[in-house]
Amino acid sequence: MNDMKNSAKKILLSGVKPTGRPHIGNYLGAMKQFVDLQDEFNSFIFIPDYHALNTIQDAKILSENILGVVIDYLAIGLDPKKVTFYKQSDIPEHTELCWIFNTLATMPYLMRAHAFKDAEAKNKEINVGTFDYPMLMAADILLYDADVVPVGQDQKQHVEITRDMADKFNRVYGEVFKMPKEMILENVKVVPGTDGQKMSKSYNNTIPLFATDEEIKKAVMSIPTDSRGIAEPKDIANDKVFALHKLFQGPEFADVENKYINGGMGYKESKEILIKNISEFIAPLREKREKIAADKDYVLDVLKEGGKKAKKIAETKMALVREKIGVSLY
Ligand code: ADP
Ligand code: TRP
Repeated sequence: MNDMKNSAKKILLSGVKPTGRPHIGNYLGAMKQFVDLQDEFNSFIFIPDYHALNTIQDAKILSENILGVVIDYLAIGLDPKKVTFYKQSDIPEHTELCWIFNTLATMPYLMRAHAFKDAEAKNKEINVGTFDYPMLMAADILLYDADVVPVGQDQKQHVEITRDMADKFNRVYGEVFKMPKEMILENVKVVPGTDGQKMSKSYNNTIPLFATDEEIKKAVMSIPTDSRGIAEPKDIANDKVFALHKLFQGPEFADVENKYINGGMGYKESKEILIKNISEFIAPLREKREKIAADKDYVLDVLKEGGKKAKKIAETKMALVREKIGVSLY
């Protein structure tokens, strides 16, 4: 019954790497969409743990992070009865298809990827896994015939590369892959961090999604502001506190906005209101997370069951791929 209902729906697929605690940028830019859309789409949400290996090479930390992400998703309301929820490493077909894409993409093509160029510009020593990152991501998406991929703005190019690979494979071997499209929500495509740059685990400017009240307070208080006094109008377009007010609006939002434009509110009061609103938003999520975390067996079962469902789909697709490329002799 469920399968019949699902077959009429479009397919949504996305994932967030298990590289540390998620922050409100990850939540608003990507994770929240997965929950909001779980009834409308036949959804596949997975944990790209092999992608995370590029940066996390400590078994204990990686295991903890994977488990943590599953708990995070369940806490924000992802329903494993509606969504196929699994981890990449349970489905070897992802890395298998990645290899086939490796043989179709050229080095100069992959050298144009933003993530690679950024790493190169910083003179970082780049591992082959990082260079090849977009090919594994293309495999993640194309194995499941995804129609839409909800992500933040920074992942747009990866989805474009995915379409290129689908097109290239289809031209060389015949029609196998569907063209996916990124889904980027305009108002949350780049959630700013406490320093005004894009909020990112790598910039030390985050407000963790399950932060304690203390952490929220500390993060908001650290946001730099200019020297305008209480009575002065504020720079609504560039103020870093106001940027977050827009995302966490309480009943007093109209008043905050009015006083920002006309004067009458100091940064201290503005920050206190923001702390209250973020804390009120996070508290129930944090409590739910604590409850779920206490039942580790349930959490592991969710992942195992999701893996079985995903594996069947990936196996069918890979059987077709192997046939098309000419390696299935029996
Ligand atoms: P980070 O930059 O913190 O390491 P990830 O690369 O793990 O984040 O991103 C996970 C998902 O969250 C991706 O879909 C990404 O586009 C989205 N995302 C990350 N940071 C932000 C942000 N500041 N605003 C909007 N979306 C974001
Ligand atoms: N690259 C994504 C990120 O950094 C994670 C990811 C891996 C992903 N494979 C994916 C996202 C497939 C969407 C679809 O956040």
